[in-house]
Amino acid sequence: MTSSIRKVKLNNGVEIPIIVGSGSYAPPETRDKVKDWILSALKNGYRHIDTAYIYGTEKAVGEAIKASGIPREEIFVTTKLPWNHQDRVAESFNTSLEALGTGYIDLYLIHWPQAIVFEEGNPLPRNPDGSFKTTDKVNFNDAWAEMEKLLQTGKVRAIGVSNFSIKTLEKLSMTAKVTPAVNQVELHPYLAQNELRDYCAKKGIALTAYTPSGYSVVRDDPLIVSLAEKYKATPTQIIFAWHLSRNTIIVPKSENSERQKENITIPALSEEDLGKIWGLDRGQRICNKAHPTTGQVFGWTLEQLGWETYPPKL
Ligand SMILES: NC(=O)c1ccc[n+]([C@@H]2O[C@H](COP(=O)([O-])OP(=O)(O)OC[C@H]3O[C@@H](n4cnc5c(N)ncnc54)[C@H](OP(=O)(O)O)[C@@H]3O)[C@@H](O)[C@H]2O)c1
Repeated sequence: MTSSIRKVKLNNGVEIPIIVGSGSYAPPETRDKVKDWILSALKNGYRHIDTAYIYGTEKAVGEAIKASGIPREEIFVTTKLPWNHQDRVAESFNTSLEALGTGYIDLYLIHWPQAIVFEEGNPLPRNPDGSFKTTDKVNFNDAWAEMEKLLQTGKVRAIGVSNFSIKTLEKLSMTAKVTPAVNQVELHPYLAQNELRDYCAKKGIALTAYTPSGYSVVRDDPLIVSLAEKYKATPTQIIFAWHLSRNTIIVPKSENSERQKENITIPALSEEDLGKIWGLDRGQRICNKAHPTTGQVFGWTLEQLGWETYPPKL
């Protein structure tokens, strides 16, 4: 078992910890606890904290970093531009930076490709039929041009995207001067994203996996459970060993100190067993899937997102 901090070099030379990442999404009712469990993650060796304006956890992440006493430059901080701020990139970035209080941000991502209408105090504005109020007055190409300007300020070390597909990355590349350093997407053994992985590798874009465990859906898979028994490890450790073998950056989230330690202690699996895990891919989205009645994911269809070429087979 290893718990070393391995790093990946992004396309602009900036280094990012590959596995020692901690997510920081928290529902509103538990946000008062975020500072404590991020501090615990830092004490347990995590050196990459993934947050987002929309999570409402940036301030708590910044406070935990300060309280940890770990030098700022040893911690990698990722945060994200929300979908309703695509026409106010600089302003939103500065708000996030102020909330974090970290002096600079290591990686700033466009959180979703779709732009949602800005309504003061309402990040999820909806139409009367319940669908999200999207807008085409601004688009991710415009937002990216503003993200590129942020690089000149020295307040951010790298910029990237999240929830982008080959289709939306191709559209972005038509106007982008800077290639995204990272694309953060849902990725686990049931959604291996192999086509996107190959595409990103060719373009020099690093992939970060969110929902890296695949929750109990993947943890309870009979193959994962049997490999956990074989290697005297836990199902989550088996899944993370597979990510590590593919050089994917992961940002697992746990509020629990014991599970935080478990998640960064990774066994080495044989090539044969890793191959079996590759075989579990079934294009199944578990975290962000199409709404059963609208067929949309936060206001965009699978076709708009470029996700329809990888449909669930189940
Ligand atoms: N870019 C995006 O659109 C996007 C979308 C989703 C997520 N994210 C990021 O990715 C991070 C992680 O994603 P996620 O929370 O969806 O997935 P995850 O980290 O794979 O799963 C987290 C869940 O698994 C539990 N857990 C963690 N370690 C465990 C273990 N060893 N054994 C059993 N259960 C365990 C956690 O509970 P406990 O906390 O109780 O341990 C929590 O319920 C988020 O926090 C966020 O930063 C980004």
